[in-house]
Amino acid sequence: MKRNFISILDWTSEEIQANIELALELKKLTKQGECPKLLEQKVYAMIFHKESLRTRVSFEVGIFQLGGAAIHLTANDFVLGERESVPDVAQVTSRFVDGILIRTFEHQSVIDLSKYAEVPVVNMLTDWNHPCQVMADALTIQEHFKKLKGLKIAYLGDGNNMTNSWLCLAARIPLNLSIGTSPDSLPDMDLFERVKSAGLSEVSISHSAEEAVENADVLYTDVWASMGKKDQAKRKIIQLKDFQINQKLLERAKSEAIVMHCLPAERGLEITDEVLDGPQSVVLDQAENRLHAQKAILVQLARWQQNP
Ligand code: CP
Ligand code: NVA
Repeated sequence: MKRNFISILDWTSEEIQANIELALELKKLTKQGECPKLLEQKVYAMIFHKESLRTRVSFEVGIFQLGGAAIHLTANDFVLGERESVPDVAQVTSRFVDGILIRTFEHQSVIDLSKYAEVPVVNMLTDWNHPCQVMADALTIQEHFKKLKGLKIAYLGDGNNMTNSWLCLAARIPLNLSIGTSPDSLPDMDLFERVKSAGLSEVSISHSAEEAVENADVLYTDVWASMGKKDQAKRKIIQLKDFQINQKLLERAKSEAIVMHCLPAERGLEITDEVLDGPQSVVLDQAENRLHAQKAILVQLARWQQNP
């Protein structure tokens, strides 16, 4: 059966945990120089309407290691709904490739694409969500603490696609997710309320950074002005200046806390050099884990596609 990965909510708790296990296994094999050709002969269309370093490189390398191939398409090739309709793009592309991976602006256009695509669709980031990143983050935390459930994650900064992705994860895995942000930079509040009332995780929003990070296992941040919203950068600096992750704030978390950032970082704004490059930072492991988590996602989707 065709399945997608457009947000973490598309998969069950068991499927997410199985994906972390598969990613750990694939990572171990890769480190041993073994790359099982689980995607042999498979070709993936990768559509980018925004910039990327980590996502593009990690997907292309991962697909290559698994025996497949990737085609890189940008807005120079087409923009969804402009040269031709979303259903036409979805149906035509599905006749050529084994999966469509897309990074774009509107989340709804990825949902629309998936409705008409006959092959799995993977969200490589929209304005609303970045599920591949949070899957890799879950893997990184699992590796570091040997557990994920019950940890306190303090997310500091803009209420954006990453914050929403963490809320989605909290809807599937029991966490204590404490969001520290200004009243002007809130995440998707409908999503927040749904996750809160579902009751699986403890989720909260504080307008005090100090309160948000108290006793945290993980301090997480992201840029204050996301791609496509850089015109808001000056306003965001004013709104979020008290939510920077710096050494003083880090000292309020648990002494063994780790610091995470999906990158790219705006050093000196949402995080200081001292913390980003410091001993508690795991940002490079986090970036590397994009490769392993995404290989597992593609393998899982291909297995579902092959075995109804
Ligand atoms: N974290 C992340 O998605 O990085 P890129 O924008 O470089 O792909
Ligand atoms: N929130 C950021 C994430 C980048 C990986 C953005 O959308 O630009």
